[in-house]
Amino acid sequence: MQRTLVKDAHNATAPSDAILLQGWVRTRRDAKAFSFIELNDGSCLKGMQVIVDASLPDYAQVAKANTGASVEVHGKLVESKGAGQKWEVVATKFTVLGEADATYPLQKKGHTLEFLREIAHLRPRSNLFGAVFRVRSRLAYAVHQFFQNKQFHYVHTPIITASDAEGAGDMFRVTTFDVANPPRTEDGKHVDDAKDFFGKKAFLTVSGQLEGEIFAHALSSIYTFGPTFRAENSNTSRHAAEFWMIEPEVAFCDIHGNMDLAEEFVKYLIRDAKEHCAADLEFFSKFVDKDLLARLDFVLEKPFVRCSYTEAIEILEKSGKTWEHPVAWGANLQAEHERYLTEEHFKCPTTVYNYPRAIKAFYMRANDGCAPGRETVAAMDLLVPGIGEIIGGSQREERLEKLREGMALHHLDEKAYWWYLDLRRYGSVPHSGFGLGFERMLMFVTGVGNIRDVIPFARTPGTADF
Ligand code: 4AD
Ligand code: MG
Repeated sequence: MQRTLVKDAHNATAPSDAILLQGWVRTRRDAKAFSFIELNDGSCLKGMQVIVDASLPDYAQVAKANTGASVEVHGKLVESKGAGQKWEVVATKFTVLGEADATYPLQKKGHTLEFLREIAHLRPRSNLFGAVFRVRSRLAYAVHQFFQNKQFHYVHTPIITASDAEGAGDMFRVTTFDVANPPRTEDGKHVDDAKDFFGKKAFLTVSGQLEGEIFAHALSSIYTFGPTFRAENSNTSRHAAEFWMIEPEVAFCDIHGNMDLAEEFVKYLIRDAKEHCAADLEFFSKFVDKDLLARLDFVLEKPFVRCSYTEAIEILEKSGKTWEHPVAWGANLQAEHERYLTEEHFKCPTTVYNYPRAIKAFYMRANDGCAPGRETVAAMDLLVPGIGEIIGGSQREERLEKLREGMALHHLDEKAYWWYLDLRRYGSVPHSGFGLGFERMLMFVTGVGNIRDVIPFARTPGTADF
């Protein structure tokens, strides 16, 4: 007999004489003549109420059906007399497949998120994490839908790379050397990287952008969606050492088209979650962040604010606030500044663009006609309330000489980027792209406040369990 998912059982339009459910016991309540079991199979937030009559030959099994046990229920789907559900299942055959005893950590009472992180192998069975990971799965699908509908091509950029896409260091080394005793060059002074697996130093990628640019110069509009790695030692609620990033790259597109695409993309994902994960979002708004649904609606209604970096600095200077990190033209915006702009000043998602050239990556396009000492690049960061930056991107420098100038400014070796420079030698075009941090987007959509709780297995400084 074919299994029915609890989600489909809830959506049934007619009773059924024979259905099969399989899942895990969330709660059990024994009355004199029968037991109530709430069965959850992860297909949706709401479990199915199963009634096992004491007259059933299998009734002895029920004593073993503790919270956490896996069970199989053959039964009838009938209209529920109880409040809170349309359907319930009256068991005709009830089997415990795998028992769970009283040491099962997810008993009914609520647990702290910190505790649940320590049992990341069991936390997907809780209401909160079931909901988070259903939304994560749905939005991963929506990412592909959004770009595929627009005729973007999906490119698998490498995870192991020899180039530093952001030119900023902070990369994890990939090596097969015996770390305690690597081969040395002839003079014995240096590690001989030529003898390493790839014949040179290799790393885990921080971004697929540069390889994405290669493909945008052939397929016009592309996107990547994969894991990226940063060895920055930032122990915050928004940074992970391994996170997933979506990076579209579009030929024949400038910074304005790039900002339009970013806004459309973020709104699409929110709309998709509202449409396909309504029950899970309602759960978050009840138990995680009571303003969540109103905030998501608000974000969908209004155009995002766009504000140049120079305007942003003026706003921050005039705010009358005292900042931990001083505000001055040329300094990078810190989390406190970003959050002030989007949460207090504009009270709206805000795209800040045209940042000082010196603080942004080498590949960003130099703006023409800047005042001396006020050189900017066509960079853009999308800031959202509660989180700050969720997107970073730019128009890319398509002019060979200007790109070389940018590389010199950032002390990068042209030889290492020869193929990247070639894109400007052969058929160069104006092009733009951005990166959306998938986990930050999930934090925004679910209201969950810590990045560790929207990724199945968090990798952060000092933590790589499971
Ligand atoms: O701003 P970032 O560093 O931009 C890039 O990597 C560009 N190459 C993207 C591009 O233009 N194609 O990172 C992009 C986004 C950030 O806005 C943030 O959402 C997320 O990636 N991000 C992180 N998320 C979690 N943990 C970290 N350590 C992150 N670092 C960046
Ligand atoms: Mg950034």
